[in-house]
Amino acid sequence: MWLPCRCTTKYVAASIRRGVSASFLHVLRRGRSSWNSAAFMPESAGFEGVSGRDALHDYSVSHSENFWAAVARQRLNWIRPFDAVQDCDLSQGRIKWFEGGKLNVSVNCLDRHVHTCPERVALIWERDERGSEVRYTYRELLEMTCRLGNLLRRHGVKKGDCVTIYMPTCPLAVASMLACARIGAAHNVVFAGFSSEALAERIRDAQSSTVITVNQGVRGGKITELKRTVDAAVQSCPTVRQVFVAMRTEKRVEMADRDIALEEEMLKEDVVCEPAAMDSEDVLFLLYTSGSTGKPKGLVHTQAGYLLYAALTHRYVFGYHDGDVFGCVADIGWITGHSYTVYGPLANGGTTVLFESTPVYPDPGRYWDMVERLRINQFYGAPTAIRLLIRYGDQWVKKYDRSSLTTLGSVGEPINTEAWEWYNRVVGEGRCPVVDTWWQTETGGICIAPKPSEPDAEIVPGMAMRPFFGIKPVLMDTEGKLLTSNNTSGALCMAQPWPGMARTIHNNHQRFLETYFHPYPGYFFTGDGAYRSQEGYYQITGRLDDVINVSGHRIGTAEIEDVVNQCSAVAESAVIGYSHNIKGQGVYAFVVLKKGVDVQEVDLSKQLNNMVSEKIAKYACPDFIQFAKRLPKTRSGKIMRRVLRKVVDCDLEGLGDLSTLDDPAAVQEIIEGHEKVLSK
Ligand code: WTA
Repeated sequence: MWLPCRCTTKYVAASIRRGVSASFLHVLRRGRSSWNSAAFMPESAGFEGVSGRDALHDYSVSHSENFWAAVARQRLNWIRPFDAVQDCDLSQGRIKWFEGGKLNVSVNCLDRHVHTCPERVALIWERDERGSEVRYTYRELLEMTCRLGNLLRRHGVKKGDCVTIYMPTCPLAVASMLACARIGAAHNVVFAGFSSEALAERIRDAQSSTVITVNQGVRGGKITELKRTVDAAVQSCPTVRQVFVAMRTEKRVEMADRDIALEEEMLKEDVVCEPAAMDSEDVLFLLYTSGSTGKPKGLVHTQAGYLLYAALTHRYVFGYHDGDVFGCVADIGWITGHSYTVYGPLANGGTTVLFESTPVYPDPGRYWDMVERLRINQFYGAPTAIRLLIRYGDQWVKKYDRSSLTTLGSVGEPINTEAWEWYNRVVGEGRCPVVDTWWQTETGGICIAPKPSEPDAEIVPGMAMRPFFGIKPVLMDTEGKLLTSNNTSGALCMAQPWPGMARTIHNNHQRFLETYFHPYPGYFFTGDGAYRSQEGYYQITGRLDDVINVSGHRIGTAEIEDVVNQCSAVAESAVIGYSHNIKGQGVYAFVVLKKGVDVQEVDLSKQLNNMVSEKIAKYACPDFIQFAKRLPKTRSGKIMRRVLRKVVDCDLEGLGDLSTLDDPAAVQEIIEGHEKVLSK
């Protein structure tokens, strides 16, 4: 693996165009005593009569063009200024931002910081082997990116191509993404846990002729043969001409004619690489994600709008300041890794952690040991990991010094109250705000989160709460009518476009329109349900397909899970609706107990029913409770509800593609457990 040599003095941040962006950073100092919009957000200095967070939010949606123009001018470095702020029409699914503008994303993430602070650390690679972290400065990352950009160019990769990256979270993966951006190619990062078939499907759909991978991956002390997976995948990908192979371990792998040793070839390249001048709306990357059909969709994000939105949300949702160490533990194969491990932090000149390991390797103290060692200020993780760690007890957290932490983030699924409180009380010692951030691959960046807020404004556990600047959420009823009152639930839509949203589905614009714009004409439909409280705060109630209807009462499965999870014996749960003769739908709960809990299942079932009945209503009580050792999950940690639903419907034929499961054996256990429940 390419390690920093710390000896090159030759770097030229060619073609940097310095904007005013460097100068505003020093305004963002801590210790503000009261709210002052311009001090909080220097870009807002020219917004007339705006004082306070809520006023700034109002302005950002009512004067959306002014808001985004000011932010885009100041926060990004442009090769050519944009002519128009936006040209969007949600009813047509047309989304264009900053047209006429030209810029280079890698220059925004690297060169301009190299110009002002070349020796600042850009990446801290927290390798799987604990205590062996490696730091890369902005100068080193730029150099690595330029060599890689030149190498790709020499091998014929050009503007408009799409390079598939199948690598674990590591500096060369980041440099690969940035090298694509530098020369104008799009990237398609495929999570390195996907099977060869899933990888092949994505390579084919993206029509990549170039793949970048590593010989082997190392995660949780286990070796994965990534190059071998690529070999198998490219068998069915006639478009692939070349595969670049980096060395994560010493192990030599078989190299075919199309394979190129990445580090060896990089050494031959120059450390200066002319950045391509890209149009704002040129494609930056594709990222595949699952929809309600079996075929993954390649969501398309473009240059300026995406980068701006990732940078702005990173800065303000997490309260990231110059000099902080940002620790997002998501894999770069997911949108969270794209926006908050790579693009947001680097656009802001931040120091970002690349986490290669797992929360329990070599023991359940891994995250907090890392927080202590790297002095992480903002920690951003997933509820599923938090729930897992709760099972192991507080001592694994308390063993380590977490005094560097200022903000804790949560993403990817609803965070239940118990997990939220543990995260807040045990991990954050009650000092750190917990920001439950709601967003999607489609939205590019965080759309709803408790922060930024007025100083000392309340944060409600388990609620994403406040829309970010420029975001205007609305709720719709089942007839497609706008719900205007508070204390109400509905389908979550966005009434206005924002720069970070996806532009299309690669090769399938029709599917893009049908999924997101046709259900509620004039609005972007998120596919999620939400509740708006009396105070106007948003709480995500789960995917709409996870909403069940019991005797005419709507109930989010997440709401029932939240109650079940509050039981001290329960580690996690998944609630599924199933077809019921009388009630329409019934409630089926899968429950995983904490390690070492010794209770009678019958007693616990009664207790859980009582709790649900007490906290929600009797109709929400599970008809069946199945105790399981574990739940089937994707490799990113999401519970595969589709699989659970099929098991509960006794439709084993329809289980579908299980290749994205973390451990397919979990499904067999669930099927057997279900048979036992039915036979009782
Ligand atoms: C869910 C991940 C509740 C939601 C960034 C969304 C959440 C889907 C939250 C997107 C949250 C994400 N609370 N649910 N804070 N964050 N989700 O594309 O259902 O992997 O639609 O993006 O995750 O998942 P994706």
